[in-house]
Amino acid sequence: MILVTGGAGYIGSHTIVELLNKNFEVLVIDNFSNSELSALNSIEKITGKSISFIEMDLRNYDLLIEKTKEFDIEGIIHFAAYKSVGESVFEPLKYYDNNINSLINILNFLKERSISNFVFSSSCTVYGSPEIIPVTEKSEVKKGESPYGKSKIIGEEIINDFNASHTFSAINLRYFNPIGAHSSGLIGDKPSGKPNNLLPFVTQVAIGKREVLSIFGGDYDTPDGTCLRDYIHVTDLAKAHVSAIEYNRKNHNKVIPINLGTGNGSSVLEIVNTFEKVTKIKINFKINPRRKGDVPAIFGDCSLSKKLLGWEAQLSLEDMLSSAWNFEKNIKN
Ligand code: NAD
Ligand code: WQD
Repeated sequence: MILVTGGAGYIGSHTIVELLNKNFEVLVIDNFSNSELSALNSIEKITGKSISFIEMDLRNYDLLIEKTKEFDIEGIIHFAAYKSVGESVFEPLKYYDNNINSLINILNFLKERSISNFVFSSSCTVYGSPEIIPVTEKSEVKKGESPYGKSKIIGEEIINDFNASHTFSAINLRYFNPIGAHSSGLIGDKPSGKPNNLLPFVTQVAIGKREVLSIFGGDYDTPDGTCLRDYIHVTDLAKAHVSAIEYNRKNHNKVIPINLGTGNGSSVLEIVNTFEKVTKIKINFKINPRRKGDVPAIFGDCSLSKKLLGWEAQLSLEDMLSSAWNFEKNIKN
């Protein structure tokens, strides 16, 4: 059985679908701080399989031990964290408390229960604003520009240090920009309140929930002046987690950082234009000043994932955008 922390969230829910499709049994721990129980019902609907579930906060170590006693856990995928870069600047302690303490508890738990297979949700944010793109796993890990970003850098360091003192196999998956939704339209990215990320904002403008998309900066040194990112379909990303769990079964006993992206950079305007093309809906947008802290351009060299995990992204930008739109149309309220 695989323990998926934060399994009711955006990436976790898609990963559980892929784990169940590969006949893994799944135990979810989530406190619904940024998700809803309905995501777990949707997963069961999509797969026709059931999942075990504990509603709890991972920061409660005694409860973690107590509630998981009856489950035979082979591996852990640790998604649970807060993820808003902007909020982390205003509430740094909230981010360090949750993202670091949850990780420490799950690593203590791993040792306590003699689990040797660990997958961690890291981020391309660890590369900061890179001088050379695409970034490889050997590119410099920067100091971190927000408490959120730092919590991922520190998280990776904690895993490395712990691995030097205790034997287990770990993969730090450095995601680029996950977008899109499951083909069923039943699960997807559903931010509460005003979206921070580009795609939910675009789909909310398309459906009429918001009036205008603000494009942050049109004067970058990029082909069309807007920022470049490596957008990756969440279903592709989800499948990489299954491959990582399978790879760790080889007991390599190391910590391996692996980039997960498509290897292509797309600009904000390219996203808007492609969205308009696949949906035939016009997006009302305005080019505004740059957003503080934005990296002008980043995309990943993702050859290591292919070499080690046998995984590479399959789905196109069109697939990402049409699935995101399909999900938005299905959201009730
Ligand atoms: P999400 O917010 O949708 O999912 C996180 C889940 O963890 C939520 O269901 C939330 O309720 C749960 N959670 C948070 N703190 C918890 C706690 N203390 N105890 C129990 N449950 C808790 O986020 P996501 O987009 O699915 O991201 C998953 C992971 O991937 C996070 O670690 C995030 O930092 C990382 N990541 C996300 C992105 C992205 O753009 N979405 C990019 C890079 C890395
Ligand atoms: C994408 C592009 C914006 C919103 C963040 C985190 C990163 C990782 C992924 C977790 C940028 C532009 C956006 C809008 C816009 N998360 N944009 N108008 O900033 O690349 O990465 O999510 O680890 O750590 O920083 O993603 O979706 O916010 O922005 O023009 O309303 O869209 O400037 O170029 P970002 P994003």
